[in-house]
Amino acid sequence: MCGIFGIVYADRPRRNLGEVLRKALERLEYRGYDSAGIAVVDRGLVVRKDAGKVAEVAARYGFDSIQGVAGLAHTRWATHGKPDQANAHPHTDCRGVIAVVHNGIVENYAELREELAARGHVFRSETDTEVIAHLVEEYKRQGLDTFAAFKKALSRVRGAYAVALIDAENPKAIYFARNLSPLIIGVGDGFNIVASDIPTVLDHTRRVIAVRDGEYGYITPHQVYIEADGVPQDASSRVEEIPWSAEMATKGGYAHFMLKEIYEQPESLATTVAGLEGLEAAAASLLSARNIYVVGAGSSLHAGLVFAQLLLRIKATPVPVVASEYAAYEPLFDKGDAAVAISQSGETIDTIKAVRAMRERGVRVLSVTNVVGSTITRESDVVVYTRAGPEIGVAATKTFTTQVATLSAIYAAMLKALGYDTAPMEREIKALPDLARKAVENTAGAAKDLARRLKAKPSAYYLGRGSAVPVAMEGALKLKEVAYIHAEAYPAGESKHGPIALVEDGFPVLFVFSDPNTREKTLSNVAEMKARGAYTIGTVPARSDIAKRLDYAIEVPESGELAAPILHVIPLQLLAYFTAVERGYDPDKPRNLAKTVTVE
Ligand code: AGP
Repeated sequence: MCGIFGIVYADRPRRNLGEVLRKALERLEYRGYDSAGIAVVDRGLVVRKDAGKVAEVAARYGFDSIQGVAGLAHTRWATHGKPDQANAHPHTDCRGVIAVVHNGIVENYAELREELAARGHVFRSETDTEVIAHLVEEYKRQGLDTFAAFKKALSRVRGAYAVALIDAENPKAIYFARNLSPLIIGVGDGFNIVASDIPTVLDHTRRVIAVRDGEYGYITPHQVYIEADGVPQDASSRVEEIPWSAEMATKGGYAHFMLKEIYEQPESLATTVAGLEGLEAAAASLLSARNIYVVGAGSSLHAGLVFAQLLLRIKATPVPVVASEYAAYEPLFDKGDAAVAISQSGETIDTIKAVRAMRERGVRVLSVTNVVGSTITRESDVVVYTRAGPEIGVAATKTFTTQVATLSAIYAAMLKALGYDTAPMEREIKALPDLARKAVENTAGAAKDLARRLKAKPSAYYLGRGSAVPVAMEGALKLKEVAYIHAEAYPAGESKHGPIALVEDGFPVLFVFSDPNTREKTLSNVAEMKARGAYTIGTVPARSDIAKRLDYAIEVPESGELAAPILHVIPLQLLAYFTAVERGYDPDKPRNLAKTVTVE
């Protein structure tokens, strides 16, 4: 959702503070790009903000020439109030000395606003956030110091928040708090940072503390102070060294992060496979479970559905759960059950809430995530990390394939525990980086060519059978989210039960041939679609004769069944990317979307 950043330096004045904030905003922009803004403490409080992309707003207001000693920055994904200048963050109090940036939702803002307005506070925006600045002002007016006023303000706020606040009357500190929305501290030498995510601090430091739900505190240039329930926490023992470089979070010569991240998949798969730990314990825990809930949202859910297909083969009982729909499954949750919760960010609120509900009823939760110290890691019994590196593009690419690789390795470990010879599977998993490299290199040209043919189509179907269904779902999601073409995924056999009615001359139908057990039947569905004039496309194993039966085929390296979903999704990612570019859209900033969804 929104992205927040705050930095406080020892030097005074800090000449390039505006430039530091602008660069942080560029990194945070994937979290929201409705508006951007900064607040800087120099001789007083300076706020510059407006609707629009970071580059436009920064140029319009000359961010780079703004000086100061402490500053906040914010990119917005609008929840309350339209995206315009007044609603852009930071928000200030009546006197213009306090500035606040916020990611989340203040649920009780209407009643707080009414109460504060009755006390004479003047509101300038329609946002929920502005009440925080006025609450702190109100409690300062009543005689509290800034930190005490901030704490008292938070005690009045219900909802989700990662919040940072500066007070020009007390400029050597930035106050922060977290409930549900992600927040980290970057620990520096002569400065400290608060931010929504790790990539945003990598230009400055790799030393990070993950702020936990319910915690609040302040940073000064030389101190990180954290409190929970009035009790000081030992911050220094929680500093983690992050193994990501600043370069990993830049485009590195690619036109877009999405393309870079697609091309990084061989490497991210290699790092993930090499770093897999705790598989035996994970396997044992899953094998002893009655039901195995496989829970996630979006691409993470699709990775879970690939896993659920595998579990069926060993007669484990997977129960796929769309994270936001977990409540319907609550009556099932019980002590003998286990869950596999998948979330690249580890912060998706729907998934976190599902995990909480499961654990409350005694379900053991194994989570698969890409972010060290993220919320899900603290709320799970076992954590298995994907090691995809930072993913900046809003569309999940390398985190999806590393999730599938990790879940495949867990499946192989389960088979091993059951006494099967898993050596061939283990070889296949080790070969993934090489196969993925071939898949990227061999399919990029065809995906680009196909993108030109598809760019003017209003709609497409993605079909597959068996384990190809979630791959088709992932391909369709990619096309929708970055190219804005309506794409629907169906089990190929199900397409006869309604969707085929839309098919007419030239309607694109893309078949995913990643499941070797369902090829013949899928080919029958190809014939049915062709008979209705569909333009039939397929991702097909190289050297098979399936290509001849299609209007357009993209050949994917041959592989075993575990690698196939990963290899077949790669051309679908590329197709979505190139189609977006052909249509003139920025695939890194798809409209209406945010990388991490922290509201229900
Ligand atoms: C994927 O391309 C999407 N951006 C989205 O569906 C995403 O997978 C979903 O929001 C879940 O995110 P998570 O993995 O961080 O939990």
